[in-house]
Amino acid sequence: MAKKNLGSAGELFPQSVFIVASYGEDGTPNAMNVAWAGECSRHEVCVNIGDHKTTENIIARGAFTVAPADAAHVAEADYFGIATGRKTNKAEASGLTFAKSEFVDAPVIEEFPLTMECKVTSIAGDEHGARIVGEVVNTRVDESVLDDEGRVDFARMRPIVYDSTRRIYRVVGKEVGGAWDAGKALM
Ligand SMILES: Cc1cc2nc3c(=O)[nH]c(=O)nc-3n(C[C@H](O)[C@H](O)[C@H](O)COP(=O)(O)O)c2cc1C
Repeated sequence: MAKKNLGSAGELFPQSVFIVASYGEDGTPNAMNVAWAGECSRHEVCVNIGDHKTTENIIARGAFTVAPADAAHVAEADYFGIATGRKTNKAEASGLTFAKSEFVDAPVIEEFPLTMECKVTSIAGDEHGARIVGEVVNTRVDESVLDDEGRVDFARMRPIVYDSTRRIYRVVGKEVGGAWDAGKALM
């Protein structure tokens, strides 16, 4: 099969569409769109963010929330990635509901079905940005995306991912196999 070298282009897929929400020092809520992020252990989330209003906020408050965006909120998710809280009150302009988290010093955006509320445990930095790790103190979920056994059902939630090769969002698709199961065919 013919292969081509693309050099240092990082094309790991999928990239997240995580909406990271925080409070400014004056209490103004803000949110940004983050593609470089993920769970880095069972109860920890890592986000890699540059010099943004969100970065200042998280450093000042020691907390943030992170919500995977869903297909119902593509416009709002993208807006959070193209406007800055340094110039606009994005919370107000988005029309979404920013409520105070019960657990951490950061807002929860009510319209996103699933949110992790995180307390900052470490911040490392280099020229690529701040790598902020947060411990998940609470996970808040809409009952409408839970299945009969109380598990988050991503088929109902329809999370989106970022396709950086085309600069588009894609909705997460169908189940194609069982984890810790499909491989048994080769054992
Ligand atoms: C699809 C998408 C993904 C993004 N991913 C990141 C990211 O992973 N890290 C980052 O620092 N900025 C990322 N950005 C840019 C920030 O979201 C953007 O600069 C935003 O305006 C920062 O908001 P703030 O200044 O209000 O904090 C992304 C933007 C988009 C549209």
